[in-house]
Amino acid sequence: MMRYAHVTGWGMAVPENVLTNHDLEQIVDTNDEWIISRTGIKERRIAAKDETTSSLALDAARRALSQTDLNPGDIQLIIVATASPDFIFPATACLVQDQLGAVNAGAFDLSAACTGFVYALNMAAQSIRSGSLDNALVIGAETLSRFVNWEDRNTCVLFGDGAGAFVLQASEKPGGLLSCVMRSDGSGGDLLSVPAGGSVLPATHETVDQNLHTIQMNGREVFRFATRVMASATKEAVDKAGLKLEDINLIIPHQANSRIIEAAARGIRMPMTQIVMNIERYGNTSTASIPIAICEALEDNRIKPGDNLVLVAFGGGLTWGALVLEWTEPEIRPISIWSRRRRKLLLLLARLRSFGLRLLRKLEGFIWGASSQEE
Ligand code: COA
Repeated sequence: MMRYAHVTGWGMAVPENVLTNHDLEQIVDTNDEWIISRTGIKERRIAAKDETTSSLALDAARRALSQTDLNPGDIQLIIVATASPDFIFPATACLVQDQLGAVNAGAFDLSAACTGFVYALNMAAQSIRSGSLDNALVIGAETLSRFVNWEDRNTCVLFGDGAGAFVLQASEKPGGLLSCVMRSDGSGGDLLSVPAGGSVLPATHETVDQNLHTIQMNGREVFRFATRVMASATKEAVDKAGLKLEDINLIIPHQANSRIIEAAARGIRMPMTQIVMNIERYGNTSTASIPIAICEALEDNRIKPGDNLVLVAFGGGLTWGALVLEWTEPEIRPISIWSRRRRKLLLLLARLRSFGLRLLRKLEGFIWGASSQEE
């Protein structure tokens, strides 16, 4: 019996705070005209003080889950693809697991920079197709504004914050994820990196003074690499799915630069009407850019059941990849108002449970400490 992995729920979350190109003119030596003509970006969202990668991920995940018949306790795996995690460890996925009350889920982060969501979707879908899992929650979430050097006009105009989430579920109905290519070239790792904060350059006063905890980028080289791989990865994934480019209804590319997207479209001779672009409102949100673009395309009725989609991305690592997804009508199982209320209550209880668990651990530690001192 063949198993397929279908997207049954989706959701996005972006901070309310908007930073326009005009706002940036007050921060660095740049102008609206330059940013629009070279990147296509008009504004981006910036996380408020109390927002983090995990809080945006959680909001997107809640929305995605609410479209499915799953309770938090039914989720078997949570992958958060991110380049701006809350911590080196614990994984951001574990923070989401806790706040969601996904008590039966494994949780880990996936680090493949902006290609992370494509990689993560493929890994989750393959686990479902192999029969080892029945569902998974895949999230792309970022607060890149915390890793940007706000004095560097070459990079600070490009990035933004946000999150997008998909729920994948197993089904015998054909469709869902059809194929994927995942590639990398570590020889170009230094073209886009955060040099310090890892084991090579642990945090010191010097690394902070030299701004080495922020994004460093060779824009021109990354641009060249991106235009080369977007078209080739798309073609390869389509071929692997046994389809032709004519069979593809819509392409959802990683939103890094409108000129890169337009060059990729020319490379596969696809009109821009078949390509989703929303970079003007969000900038580059790394792993979140593809799921956010899909949520908006669904909202605009640009995606219909039976459509073949290509998701294609590139990023630091260097990494790149593309996958073909046959969009299927989720089998709408009627969700009663009671089970909806029950799920809301479960989500509320998750926070209480997390608090209770922490308290219990403290108490246990206290008792354990007291008894071991007695020995
Ligand atoms: N405002 C005004 N001028 C700027 C600027 C800004 N925000 N940023 C850079 N410039 C200047 C540069 O200093 C340079 O000036 P110089 O020639 O006097 O040194 C000039 O603009 C042109 O630089 P160049 O690198 O040729 O621009 P470009 O057309 O290649 O565009 C990028 C620069 C960064 C927009 C482009 O290279 C790019 O998008 N690269 C890919 C980056 C990316 O996608 N990264 C994420 C990958 S996931």
